[in-house]
Amino acid sequence: MQISSNYSKFARFLNLGMKLIFDKKELQSCLSSHEDEAKMLGLVPTMGALHEGHLSLVRQALSENSRVVVSIFVNPTQFNNPEDLKKYPKTLETDMALLESVSDEIIVFAPTVSELYTQNISSKNYSFNGLDKVMEGAFREGHFNGVATIVEILLDLVRPNKAYFGEKDFQQLQIVRKLSHELPFKVKIVGCPIVREPHGLAMSSRNQLLSKRMRQRAGIIFKTLQTAHSMFGTKNATVIVAYVNSVFAKEADLELEYFQIADVETLTPMQRKQDNIKYRGFIAVYAEGVRLIDNIAMN
Ligand code: PAF
Repeated sequence: MQISSNYSKFARFLNLGMKLIFDKKELQSCLSSHEDEAKMLGLVPTMGALHEGHLSLVRQALSENSRVVVSIFVNPTQFNNPEDLKKYPKTLETDMALLESVSDEIIVFAPTVSELYTQNISSKNYSFNGLDKVMEGAFREGHFNGVATIVEILLDLVRPNKAYFGEKDFQQLQIVRKLSHELPFKVKIVGCPIVREPHGLAMSSRNQLLSKRMRQRAGIIFKTLQTAHSMFGTKNATVIVAYVNSVFAKEADLELEYFQIADVETLTPMQRKQDNIKYRGFIAVYAEGVRLIDNIAMN
C-alpha cells in the first residue's frame, strides 16, 4: 500500500496497489526508484473528470509502455474565462475508480496549483508559427500559452518517452508537437482518435455539464461534420462553410462559433484544395452555455 498523504478516502484504491501522488518530489522519487533504461514511461496529461476518451489514451499508453503516469490537474492558466474554470468538474474519487477499472498499476499524479506553479500562476509566452493564432487561439486569448506552459512543466517533471493527447483537441495536439521539438529532451507525442458518445458527440469532460436532452441533440455537430466531409470531394470550402452555417442558423439552441477547413500542418484555412495537403474540418459550438469542439479528417 502506497499512501502518499492522509487522503484516507482514497485508501481503497491505494490498497489495490494504485499510486496517488500529490507531490512533485514524491513523484520524481517514485519514478527514479523504478529507473531502468530499458523501460518505457508513458504520460497521459488530463484535467480529470475522466471519460472513455481519456481511458482510451490510458489503454494505448499502457499497451506501449511499462509504466504510465496519468496527471490530473485543472490548469488555471489555460482558462480565458474564470466562470469556465469555476464550473470545470472536479471528480478525483470517480477518476480513481475509472482508472482502477483499466489497471491498478497506474501512477496518478494530482498536484495542487501551488505545487506546479511555484512562482506566479501565469503562462510563459510561446511562439508557435501562427498555430496558436487561429480557431481556438483566436477565440480563447492566451489559452495555448497556458496549455503549453503546463505541458512543458509536466513533461519536464515526468520525462516520459511518450505522451498521449486526444485528437478532439487537434489544434492543441499540433501545438504540443511543435513545443516538444523545442524541448531540450526527447519525447514522442502520440495523437489518439476521438471517442464518441452513442449519438456522435465527441467525448469531453464538459459534456457532463449538458442536459441529457442536449447531449443527444448535440450529435448534430458530428452529423454536420460528416456531411461536410462527404461534400469535400465535389464542393469548395466556401460552399461547405455556407452549408455548415445554414445548419446551425436553424438550430436556436446551438450557436456556431466557427467552422473552418484547415491544413492539418499549418492550421491555415484552405483556399484552393491541393492534392498533397491533408485537411480537417474544425468546429466550435455553444450549447446551454457549454463550448463544444470537434473536428474531422476531410481527405
Ligand atoms: O487536454 C487537456 O485536458 C489539457 O489541455 C491538458 C493537455 C491536460 C493540459 O492541461
